[in-house]
Amino acid sequence: MFAKKKVRLKAKGVWCFGLIIIILLSYNRPSLSNDTDSAKIPPEKLAAFGKTLIFGTMTPLKTLELRKNSVGKAQCPLCHMFFGEQKASRCPNLVGIEMQSHLRPKEERYRMFSERYAQKGEPNTGIKPHATSGGEYLIESLYCPNCYVREGFGIKGTKDMESGMPIIDQPPIRLTDFEIVAVIAYLQAADTLNDFSKVTAQEDWEHYFNKKLPISEKFASFDPPSNSDIVDQPQVFPDDTPEQIIKKMRCNACHTISTIKNAWGYDGPVLALKANARKRLESAEYQRAKKAGTAHATTPREYVKESILNPDAFIVPGYPNVMLKDFGDRLTPASLEKLVDFLLTLDEPLDSEQ
Ligand code: HEC
Ligand code: HEC
Repeated sequence: MFAKKKVRLKAKGVWCFGLIIIILLSYNRPSLSNDTDSAKIPPEKLAAFGKTLIFGTMTPLKTLELRKNSVGKAQCPLCHMFFGEQKASRCPNLVGIEMQSHLRPKEERYRMFSERYAQKGEPNTGIKPHATSGGEYLIESLYCPNCYVREGFGIKGTKDMESGMPIIDQPPIRLTDFEIVAVIAYLQAADTLNDFSKVTAQEDWEHYFNKKLPISEKFASFDPPSNSDIVDQPQVFPDDTPEQIIKKMRCNACHTISTIKNAWGYDGPVLALKANARKRLESAEYQRAKKAGTAHATTPREYVKESILNPDAFIVPGYPNVMLKDFGDRLTPASLEKLVDFLLTLDEPLDSEQ
């Protein structure tokens, strides 16, 4: 009798626990919990659809100058760079944006905007900045460009508080919700070069707006080409210069390299390995990684190679572990050697060059 009671109590406990989980799950996404048919759209197809909206074609022209590129209904290439080798403009480079998107909502600057618009919302759109993930940040950027304005890229005279970017769901561009999600899906796929696991645009949108995404009719009849054509893989050629290799591999999206124009990324350390490789090797942190068996380099050259081929071996203290892991597959052995030679010539940038 005693034992029976215990079992009943236990069963009750499990039931309660289950109920709590159900409540917790439905608390975040109440409108979704009723949807049995909220099927996940295949990310490859979504990204391909987004690509045609951005460029108007699956095989865009990639001229170095903006405005001479292929431009589709979404008009983004009128202002933004999408390919590593393109020239800078007054709009942020969208190469590397998937990676950077995850950092934005955590910035102090983001908090400043969300506090500013917490009460009444941003005046043109009524949106209160509330992105909780990289994908949601990208979505918010398109519906409400003023909800966060990149430092140095705002309208002149507004202290970078107002954005020159058009509101993408309003005239003249007026993309539908579905089209916006497709554009974001392309941005997410482009940066990881066809790694569609990063394409979370549909979930991001549904979470951000707390409703189900209406699916476009045009999408049903859209017939995308094979996966490999969705994101254009840059090819490395034997006579590429180190600068061309760096831009094709998009190292410049995350790293500042003092001698290369447009290499002002700040997610990773300034690449000055002539000055820094030995310091890293000798650091206590690197010695610890060696003892733990993850890191193996003994010379600056080995250190640089290891950093590129196996970024997990050692994480430079203070930086996130976000370097792509497949440079070994994408660089030819000769282009890797050329790149390493070049990186080892880079000294600490002088103050005047920074
Ligand atoms: C008329 C020029 C213009 C057009 C067209 C335009 N943008 Fe922008 N965009 C800007 C400017 C200027 C900024 C920087 C100010 C800001 O942060 O809002 C920006 C910022 C962004 C950001 C935030 C970048 C960051 O680093 O955080 C994203 C994402 C973005 N744009 C995506 C797009 C996409 C996708 C399209 C097409 C649907 C597009 N933009 C169309 C001018 C434009
Ligand atoms: C997504 C952003 C990103 C991209 C793209 C990227 N890196 Fe990195 N890289 C980082 C970060 C963050 C670190 C520091 C954390 C770590 O050690 O992994 C780093 C570290 C390094 C280091 C060690 C630097 C030091 O001072 O010790 C080297 C060398 C390096 N990267 C080279 C490259 C090269 C070459 C490319 C292109 C082929 C590249 N990275 C592409 C983010 C990136």
